[in-house]
Amino acid sequence: MLSVAEAIQQRRSIRSFKSDPVSEEMILQMLEAARLAPSASNQQPWRFVVVTDSEEKRGLRQICFDQAFIEEAPVVFAACIDRSAYSREAYRRRYQEFIDTGVELSGRFTDPEIQRIIDSIPEPDPRSVVAPATANTYIATEHLVLMATALGLGSCWVGAIMDQGAIKALLGLPENIIVVALVAVGYPKSVPPPRPRLSLEEILLRPLPQTGAT
Ligand SMILES: Cc1cc2nc3c(=O)[nH]c(=O)nc-3n(C[C@H](O)[C@H](O)[C@H](O)COP(=O)(O)O)c2cc1C
Repeated sequence: MLSVAEAIQQRRSIRSFKSDPVSEEMILQMLEAARLAPSASNQQPWRFVVVTDSEEKRGLRQICFDQAFIEEAPVVFAACIDRSAYSREAYRRRYQEFIDTGVELSGRFTDPEIQRIIDSIPEPDPRSVVAPATANTYIATEHLVLMATALGLGSCWVGAIMDQGAIKALLGLPENIIVVALVAVGYPKSVPPPRPRLSLEEILLRPLPQTGAT
């Protein structure tokens, strides 16, 4: 298996797959990588659907701008957010876990009154949780993608979901779930060269400080 650094360097978006199936063991390894991702307040809003059925993959292709590789990939993960992960009750539970497992918190989070403070926060508007839930779910999804690379698999993110209602109906998902991306996974037919990136200078907003370390 590749190291994290190797997987980061070698990952490419792969849009053409061999027909060889992906083993259940590998699927579980990718899901495990997603499960272990960090998230704000440990809310873990991600949920996944694993799609291998040809009819379902054809439906996903249609909903996602007719991108053929979605149907061609032996396995497609639908990365979803669960809006109920952001209920006050869920937040309270996550915080209690921090206390019960002795997680070292900092600042105002160490306040013994924190549970009371949490209780005083209004129940969040379901619309306001979509952006943070998506950000956190994208972190877990990239874990899954890097594990795919580490296992010798190719993958491609798909954010181009045309119709949320249609994709939820296709996958039989309830009201509180939103599909935020797909990841098509399989053995690559070929691995292309790296795609262009901005230079270090372009992404650094000010010069690198001296760290003092040698
Ligand atoms: C959130 C997200 C959504 C994406 N959606 C699509 C997509 O719908 N179709 C596609 O072919 N590639 C999609 N991509 C892949 C990007 O086009 C690709 O990562 C980028 O061009 C850089 O190429 P590389 O991944 O090979 O380094 C998406 C990537 C991300 C992170």
